[in-house]
This record gives sequence, C-alpha cells and structure tokens, in this order.
Amino acid sequence: MAFNAVRLTENVYWVGAIDWTVRDFHGYSTNQGTTYNAYLVLADKITLIDTVKTSFKDELLARIATVIKPEDIDYIISNHAEMDHSGALPEIINVVKPEKVFASVMGVKALKEHFHLDYEITGLKDGDTLNLGNLNLKFLETRMLHWPDSMVSYLIEEKILFSQDGFGMHLATGERFADELDPSLLRQEGAKYFANILLPYAPLILKLLDRIKALNIPIETIAPDHGPIWRKGPGTIVSWYEEWARQEPKAKVVIVYDTMWQGTDKMARAIADGVALEGVEVKVMKLRANDRSDVMMEILDAGAVVIGSPTLNNGLFPTVADMLTYMKGLKPKGKLAMAFGSYGWSGEAPRIIAEELKGMGMEMVAEPYKVKYVPDQNALDACQQLGRKVARVLKGKINGKSGQSKCS
Ligand code: FEO
Repeated sequence: MAFNAVRLTENVYWVGAIDWTVRDFHGYSTNQGTTYNAYLVLADKITLIDTVKTSFKDELLARIATVIKPEDIDYIISNHAEMDHSGALPEIINVVKPEKVFASVMGVKALKEHFHLDYEITGLKDGDTLNLGNLNLKFLETRMLHWPDSMVSYLIEEKILFSQDGFGMHLATGERFADELDPSLLRQEGAKYFANILLPYAPLILKLLDRIKALNIPIETIAPDHGPIWRKGPGTIVSWYEEWARQEPKAKVVIVYDTMWQGTDKMARAIADGVALEGVEVKVMKLRANDRSDVMMEILDAGAVVIGSPTLNNGLFPTVADMLTYMKGLKPKGKLAMAFGSYGWSGEAPRIIAEELKGMGMEMVAEPYKVKYVPDQNALDACQQLGRKVARVLKGKINGKSGQSKCS
C-alpha cells in the first residue's frame, strides 16, 4: 500500500493512520476526521509506541514497513488502552512477535480485560525508566487523564513527550506538524477536544502541568495520539491547556435551545439581543442545528449559559435533555446560568432545566422564565431585559464586583 512514515527526529518516525471520514467519535462530531498516531523509535531495541484503531492495522504496518521490517520491532508500549490506540494491538503482537509489551499497571489490567490476551504484558510504574540500549524512555502515570490506565512516555535523549490523548485533537490533514497548519484551526480543534474529552479532569491537568514543570524535563516535541505533532513551540498548546483548565469566565454568553413552534426560538433571539446590547459576546445555538460537541466547545470559555426548551409531555424537549445529560458529565465550572422556554398548558421545562443547572453547580442569575404559547412584545421585551441582566451580572463577576440581582 502507498503509505509513508514521517520522520520526526533522527531516530523517531510517525507511523500512524489518517481517518479522513470518521464523523462520529462516540458521540463527538468529528467533522474534520482524525488521526491515530503511532510512533516508531529506532533505538537498539526498536520500539513501537501505541498502535491504531483495529480497522487501520494494515496502514500502520505499511508505514512501519517503509522504515523497517515490522518483525524487527522489539518492544511495544501501550500508553492508553482505549481502542482507538490499542484496537490493533493483538494483531500487531501476532505479526511482530515482540520481545515485550509494556503498559502502566492499570493498563495491563485494562488490556487484558479488553482483549482477553493470552500474552504477558509488563507493567510500568510511575517514574520507571526503560533502557532501549542507546536511548531511554521514562514513564509518568496520568491516571484519569483521561482513563485509569493512561500514562505518557518521554524519550529522554530526543526530548520528545509521547502524550497519548493529551494535547491531541481530532483533525485529519495531510500535514503532520502543527507548525504547518493555521493556528486558529489548531486552537479551535484543540478547544473542542479539551471541552469534550478532558474538561471533567481539568483540576488534574493543572496538577500534571505543575508536576511536569517541577520535574524540569526539557520538552522539545509533544507527540500526541491524535492530530498534529508539536515539534516547534510546544509551549503554545501547553499554555492553551493551562487557560482552558483554569476555566476562567470570558465575557461571553451561550444560548442553547430547541423549539417546537418557534416560541422558544423567538425568546432565545430576544435574550441574545439583550446580551449584545450590553456589549457582551453572544452565541445562539439551536440544538437541531448544532451538534452537542460544538455547543460544549463554545461553552468552554463562556461565562454564562442560558438554556431554553419548550415543554413536551410535561418534560424537556429531547435534544435539550440530551444536551443537559452530556454537559453534566463534562462538569463545566464557574458558569452563570438561566433557563427559559415557551409552553402550552403546563410549562415544566424551564424549572427542570434550572434544577439541572443548579445541580451542576451553576449560579442562577434569574428565576426560570416561561411564556405561554407565543411570546408577545411584552414577553420579548422581558426576554431582552433578562439577556441584559445576564450580561451585566457576568461583567460584574469578571470585574470582581458582587453579582448583584442574582437568584438563589
Ligand atoms: Fe484517543 Fe482515549 O482515546
């Protein structure tokens, strides 16, 4: 097959796979595709770091074969057991017959439980070093970033951090290096990945970044398992991670809603108008026009989230229930919030939304606001005033003033 390996440094090659067509990654809309990165270290002990999704096994082997015979691989390291990186592992073990396969102690368990392997995998502990002859790998456990088994590997002599999912993004391109791509595209896809995969673990990320700084290990290249490799200025993606993990609120309001007969839609647009009148950035996202993962990307740096739903059969509209469930799992922190919606005869939805948002630790700016059937001019004026109020309380919070007029 016509696949090439790409050289990173004197002794290291990218030998992964490009998935140009995947559009749904366990519920995350990958509208730019993704890559499954694997790396070949040409040390005395030839080492493969991570594999690929099982359906891309032949692409991995073809890329390796442009550098060495796959059977010449001595060691395989599995930094992360999720199947987009380990799916091909059992077949690669059969082809390569490596001397040893390594994973974290939790990774050994996870791989055995996934693949029921009749093969001994060697467990590595936090801080262990593996001698490859002329080169050395050091391992750091990164439990719950984002699985219990997760670890990163550092090639000491070449100053490369193989960071598995960390610092990655779902982005399929012909270019392999971040310095070959538009920085705004990198920031957008990096933020989407962080918001949808890593956000629940933001406090652990800050601790890990502090730990890496304290270790004082020079990192010239960050080689993640998805998306481009950071061979120049890896500090850029590290500083973005620090920013996103701190979750400091920006003067930005995201209005997320769905609608049946446009009543809730009219309310959403009037609230947005009020936010904009206060000079605060606003995003209006109807759920049947926007995927939940794109909504989470916008919520990542927003200071306030306003959610609206019509009342359907005494409850939430299904897309709004889906969004709330998804958002709850991702545990965003430090947001102001408000709920709204139009209704026909019972009108439970805004109250249910408000309870969900409070349960996520959000600070409610106003009581849930509901309008019967179609909002008239008075109701739309009230929505505009609510939008202004959300924006004003947010500006006050950002400027360090007390959040006057907030709702308990
Ligand atoms: Fe890319 Fe957690 O797998």
